[in-house]
Amino acid sequence: MKNIIPGTLTHYIEVARLVSKKKSKITGNLAAVNAHIGGQFFFSPHPMALEAHIHHTKNHTLLLGYISSLAEKDKVPLVDLLKKFCPAKGYFIDLYEAYKDLWKRSSMDKSSFEDFLDWQKKEKIGSTGYLDNCHGQNESLSLMKNYFQNLGLPVKENQVVMGTGFKNLFNALVAVLMTKDVVVDEEGKDSRQLSPGTILVPRGHYQSLVKAPSFHNSRLKVIEKIDADHIREELENRGDIKAVYLSVVANPSGAIMPEEQMRGIADVILEYNKRNINNPVFLIADQVYNGSILKKGLSIFSIASVSGESSSMYDYTITIVSPSKTLGYASARIGFAASGAIIPGDTTSIISRMKALMAHEGSDGVEVSTEVGVVGAYAFSSQKWINKNSAYIRSQLIRAQKHVDSINNDIGYTFLTINNPDAGWYILSKFMRKDLSPLIENSTDLMVYFMNYNHCTPNTGFITRPGSQFGYEAPNLPQNDFLILRSTLAMKPEDLDEFFRRFREGIIKLASLKENELRAILKE
Ligand SMILES: Cc1ncc(COP(=O)(O)O)c(C=O)c1O
Repeated sequence: MKNIIPGTLTHYIEVARLVSKKKSKITGNLAAVNAHIGGQFFFSPHPMALEAHIHHTKNHTLLLGYISSLAEKDKVPLVDLLKKFCPAKGYFIDLYEAYKDLWKRSSMDKSSFEDFLDWQKKEKIGSTGYLDNCHGQNESLSLMKNYFQNLGLPVKENQVVMGTGFKNLFNALVAVLMTKDVVVDEEGKDSRQLSPGTILVPRGHYQSLVKAPSFHNSRLKVIEKIDADHIREELENRGDIKAVYLSVVANPSGAIMPEEQMRGIADVILEYNKRNINNPVFLIADQVYNGSILKKGLSIFSIASVSGESSSMYDYTITIVSPSKTLGYASARIGFAASGAIIPGDTTSIISRMKALMAHEGSDGVEVSTEVGVVGAYAFSSQKWINKNSAYIRSQLIRAQKHVDSINNDIGYTFLTINNPDAGWYILSKFMRKDLSPLIENSTDLMVYFMNYNHCTPNTGFITRPGSQFGYEAPNLPQNDFLILRSTLAMKPEDLDEFFRRFREGIIKLASLKENELRAILKE
């Protein structure tokens, strides 16, 4: 800690925070760390991911250096330890296969696998600096290639890109979709052209999608549902639609998109693209909540794994994952995208263009220790561990439902309901328009009411997100007969109780307010 290199302060603070959490033995779901990061509460990462992160900080080795330190400690051959982590045993990456792949593609492909591992485990990578094509990045991209392959995606070399989380990758993707590839004309001038367009999103979409398209004179179009019928209808009169966005676990509703629905979407897109080979429509598959399932019997399907007769969805889909949610690595701000897509007329693939763009912005220069920790999170967090987190969220959901029942009981009728999400961390509180004053025209008004109803009184306020931010009130769609507010369950039980204490106060007041009182509150 003595010689802090300028620019790495955040990193050291971050590692110190992780180390202190470990010391206080707050790891995994049980303690549900509740670290307050970026305005939200998150679970702690798997302890082995933290250890890998810390190990790199101290020793500057790759992830393999950490794994071999475990092998030495337990006196087991390194190869045996690698074989322990594989999908058949409930993990997401097949470490043995991933390192074999890395070996075959390395300059040591003529030596034995064991010699390669020996060299790789000793490889040192410093904590700072940009990583373009260094061994550390090769290691993580190779491991993540294996991760995507285990989701059923036919990923080849150079078809995975790393960015600083979903949002960063989405921004880069939108920039690629909305501009043509760089073409240098005969006079050496860059004749890159703008090619603005539309991305279809469902009513109830992740709120932060909205900004990136606007930077490129482009836009989102909210449609009622992302399914075969709605997409087919939109494509009949396509206009400038470039892509369709879907989230396999929807934020805010927590609904898991069923495999059948995705197969229907795949049929429509493959059939459309067969007829429009020079101007295909692309699909953005948001899979940041991979695995965080709250109900038994449900599973997550990857649409990019569907192959048709003559082409495959992988060639039109950009699948994005991020460890910030399910794997509890919110602080790391790293995500990965995989795709075989290429825009007709471009000289390089969408993934290569995203890489070039992010390298230019410097966002591929993720701090190495963090990158090692993230890849460790993918390698060492088994589905069992994620299920424990989900069990915690389920218990929070039951707690929330009890609060809601008690509020309705006090009011004397069902004034609000909450949903029963399939996955994820959020709940929607639903208020029927017929029960609300006409002064509350939309969910933003409702939110304003809750922010203001007890203005200047300590310990009353709270923040939830209004449904309007998720496209629930899109002007091109029929009005819903309800308004919603979204809140999170990923917090301590006592904080959830406090949230409902404040919510209750506001709701009970709202149910009995006089027009003039409400008008005054909304105007504040
Ligand atoms: C559906 C969905 N996609 C993407 C993100 C953002 O992911 P990241 O933190 O990697 O930018 C979120 C975060 O809330 C989300 O709910």
